[in-house]
Amino acid sequence: MRFAEHGEAATVVKLEEVELGQTGPKDVLVDFLAAPINPSDLNIIEGKYPLKPSLPATPGNEGVALVREIGSEVDSNYFKPGDRVVPLEAGFGTWRTSAVLPADCLYRVPSNVPTLTAATLTINPPTALCLLDKFVHLQPGATIIQNGANSAVGQAVIELATARKINTINIIRERPDWDEVSSHLRSIGATVVTTLDQALAASAHMPKPELALNCVGGPSATKLAKMLSHGGTIVTYGGMSLQPVTIPTPLLIFKDIRARGFALSINCSRAEKAALLEQLIPMAQKGAFSSQRFETYAIEDFKSALQRASEPFRGGKVVLELPAYDTCEA
Ligand SMILES: NC(=O)c1ccc[n+]([C@@H]2O[C@H](COP(=O)([O-])OP(=O)(O)OC[C@H]3O[C@@H](n4cnc5c(N)ncnc54)[C@H](OP(=O)(O)O)[C@@H]3O)[C@@H](O)[C@H]2O)c1
Repeated sequence: MRFAEHGEAATVVKLEEVELGQTGPKDVLVDFLAAPINPSDLNIIEGKYPLKPSLPATPGNEGVALVREIGSEVDSNYFKPGDRVVPLEAGFGTWRTSAVLPADCLYRVPSNVPTLTAATLTINPPTALCLLDKFVHLQPGATIIQNGANSAVGQAVIELATARKINTINIIRERPDWDEVSSHLRSIGATVVTTLDQALAASAHMPKPELALNCVGGPSATKLAKMLSHGGTIVTYGGMSLQPVTIPTPLLIFKDIRARGFALSINCSRAEKAALLEQLIPMAQKGAFSSQRFETYAIEDFKSALQRASEPFRGGKVVLELPAYDTCEA
C-alpha cells in the first residue's frame, strides 16, 4: 500500500505492485502477517503529523512479520527463517506484504505471543510503560486518571497499572455500547470507568490522582488537570479532539500542577525500545495485552479498514491481515 499525496487515507492510499530490492548482507527479507491502523498512521497520511515521509511512501508504523530470508552477515543465531519479528522504529511502512529491512531495526518476538498482540506491541504498550515510569514515581495504592481509556494505550495503561496495584480512574465517552466497553475495561483491572461529567463523583472515595494521562485535549484535559492532587502532573501524549490543552492559571499558581508531553518516536531510542520490549514481551507471553479487541480486514478490503479506523466508537483496533497471516497460527 502506498500514498503519493496527502489527504484522506481511504482516498489517497492505493494498492500497488512494487519490486522488492535484493536482500543485502545486513538485511532481512520478511513477509508481514498483520499490521494495525493507528491514529498516527492516518495523521501521517493526512500530512498532519510532525513525521513527514518522502512520497510516495508505504504507511504503517507497527506490525509483525515472518522472516523469510536473512543476509549473509546477519547473525543466524538471532534471526532464522520462520521467526516472527517486529520493527524497533516507526517509519518502515508495515502495510505491505513483504519488505527487505535492515536486521538491526528488527526485534524477534517469541512464537507464543499471539499474532495480533505482537502486531500491536511496539507502539502503544511501550508508550503506556513510559507514561507510567518517566514522570511520577507511583507507589502501590497511588491513583492515576486518564481519558481515552478504551484506546489501545489506555488499555495497556490499565493492565500495567493494575499489575503495580495502582488505582486507575478511566474516562471514556458516552457511547451506545457503554456497558460492554466499561465491563471490558473493568475486566482488565480498571478501578473506575466513568464519563467526564461523572469523574469527580465516581472517584470521590479514592486518593486524588498524582498523574493524569491525556490523549484527548480540550475540556477533557482541563478536567483531568483539575482533578489532580497538589503538585500533580498531566502528561499529554495525543490530541484526538484536535482541541488545545488549557490549564487554568490558578491550577499552575496555587496547585503547582505540572504539564508535560511525551512522544515515543522522539523520546525513545532504538536501544530503549528494545529494553521496553524486553519488559513487555514476558508479560505478553503470560496473556497481557491480548484481551484488547480487534477488527480485522484482509488487505483487499483496505479501503473499508481505513474508513473504519477513522470512525468513533469502534469495537476495537482495526488490523490489516496480510496474505502470510493465513500461513501462521494465531
Ligand atoms: N505520544 C506517543 O508516543 C503516542 C504513542 C501511541 C499513541 N499515541 C496517541 O495516543 C492516542 C491513542 O492512540 P491509540 O492507538 O491507543 O488509539 P485507538 O486505540 O485507535 O483509540 C482511539 C481513542 O481515541 C478516542 N477518540 C477518538 N476521537 C475522539 C474525540 N474527538 N474526542 C475524544 N476521544 C476521541 C476514542 O474514543 P471512542 O472509542 O469514544 O471513539 C478511543 O478511545 C492517539 O492520539 C495517538 O496518536 C501517542
